[in-house]
Amino acid sequence: MSDHQNAPLEHLKARTEHILQMGGPARVARQHAQGKWTARERLDYLLDDGTFEEIGAHVRLRGTLFGMDRADSPADGVVTGHGRIRDRLVYVFAQDFTVLGGSLGEMHAAKIQRVQDLAMKTGAPIIGLNDSGGARIQEGVDALNGYGEIFKRNTWASGVIPQITVIMGPSAGGAVYSPALTDIIVMVRHSGRMFITGPQVIKSVTGETVSAEELGGADAQIRKSGVAHLAADSDAAALDLVRTLLGYLPNNWREEPPVGTSDDPLDRVETVLAEVMPVEPSRPYDVKTIITAVLDRGSFFELQEGFAKNLVTGLGRVGGHVVGVVANQPRVLAGTLDINASDKLARFVRFCDAFNIPVVTLVDTPGYLPGTSQEYGGIIRHGAKVLYAYAEATVPKVTLILRKAYGGAYLAMCSRSVGADLVLAWPTAEIAVMGPDGAANIIFRDDIEQSPEPAETRRQKAEEYRQEFASPYVAAARGYIDAVIDPRQTRPHLARALMALANKREARPGKRHGNLPL
Ligand code: HXC
Repeated sequence: MSDHQNAPLEHLKARTEHILQMGGPARVARQHAQGKWTARERLDYLLDDGTFEEIGAHVRLRGTLFGMDRADSPADGVVTGHGRIRDRLVYVFAQDFTVLGGSLGEMHAAKIQRVQDLAMKTGAPIIGLNDSGGARIQEGVDALNGYGEIFKRNTWASGVIPQITVIMGPSAGGAVYSPALTDIIVMVRHSGRMFITGPQVIKSVTGETVSAEELGGADAQIRKSGVAHLAADSDAAALDLVRTLLGYLPNNWREEPPVGTSDDPLDRVETVLAEVMPVEPSRPYDVKTIITAVLDRGSFFELQEGFAKNLVTGLGRVGGHVVGVVANQPRVLAGTLDINASDKLARFVRFCDAFNIPVVTLVDTPGYLPGTSQEYGGIIRHGAKVLYAYAEATVPKVTLILRKAYGGAYLAMCSRSVGADLVLAWPTAEIAVMGPDGAANIIFRDDIEQSPEPAETRRQKAEEYRQEFASPYVAAARGYIDAVIDPRQTRPHLARALMALANKREARPGKRHGNLPL
């Protein structure tokens, strides 16, 4: 090649090198010193080797920034493009804190919008890696407009393609709302932080003193607020979670989730399931023992583990096919449904329904949690979401009643009447308007009051009620339960139920959209 022919390539090389340097060695070193990778390092790790194709590497901000003589913004602080995860196409964007603090200006936002549009048009999941000081202050309303355009696309993409966010640095102010509009948020402990107003603003407005980590770190957003779904100790561990999660999700709403291979026999009989239920009906046990015994070995992937622990939600596989599992957890608050558990349940069921994931519901709940804080907090409004989500969902729904299924919570936990396709029950199931003790107190009040031994009479009457009225055979006799099964045979029965429903198609009345109680 002559010198003349070489010039354009040299020019490209110089430009590319400059872009690849992003914020420069000093800022990259600072990022590393904080235990954080740069955007490109993160994408390198996340995507299959050599599959990343960058879009818009040469984009930079327009003009100079207010208050800054010279503003250099390689890639305008966000690396965008597409690549593959286990050979499946994904669109990605990764904000780079080394360039203007990963702040979002007009062009930075336009790059994110571009991959959002392409992901929607091609029906591919989108993964956003967030590490940003928020709206680029010097770009004013252009930055705000950029966020608005992103929020709009997040909303349009909702239920069309899986949207996954990883919070790997600051995410402050309105910037948290793009993540909040996505399906799943993963946070890196000690570096990922989400809040609407930071510690300084809180101090000046309310006088409260709180550190950034306490306020918006992974623990706060997982355990207290339920905003985030998963947490990891490092960038690498968080990105590993994303790769695993994607293995459970389809590319888009028209497709089925990927079918895995499983050498776990579908007819596996589990003797542990005959022993898990305590003899004493009010004794707790860990419902996760049942979940893990029934699903393909090692396939349970719990979501929102730290939030509303009285309800368990997660993805798993039966015979390689993905299912969503919802289960009351008798170990926490006796498995009652409260406001947080209702929100957690409803959002998970809608997520499964959006992405063709059958829902398996394991029921053992004495009911909605009583109390003024629940009533004033709107348990009616939040509890209604559970009914709405189950009744609205058209994916296959299999319910297994393990023990208590009382009152409104019996209905709410995907009863036949709100839309379960098949309902199974263990012989220990108790289905009634209320628990046997409460029921005995009301319907046998005279017998109890007139008895020389009221406590003993109450106990006897409650037991009588449990045997005669709350037994699963009463519900089964009326067809509300399709089969009473041997607990040891739960996996084979569940597998057959799911296979029998695999081709389920169901329509709902036409409408603009429903009005989910919020
Ligand atoms: C422009 C920003 C920036 C921003 C950080 N930088 N945030 N530049 N706009 N929003 C720049 C800094 O000036 C600095 O540049 C570099 O990025 C690194 O930032 P540091 O402050 O040195 O980093 P650190 O000490 O780690 O602190 C990180 C931080 C802090 C906590 C995120 O930068 C911060 O508080 N930033 C402002 C956060 C904020 O209030 N954003 C607006 C939120 S409101 P130099 O050149 O010095 O290295 C919002 C509205 C959205 O987002 C509305 C949507 C509806």
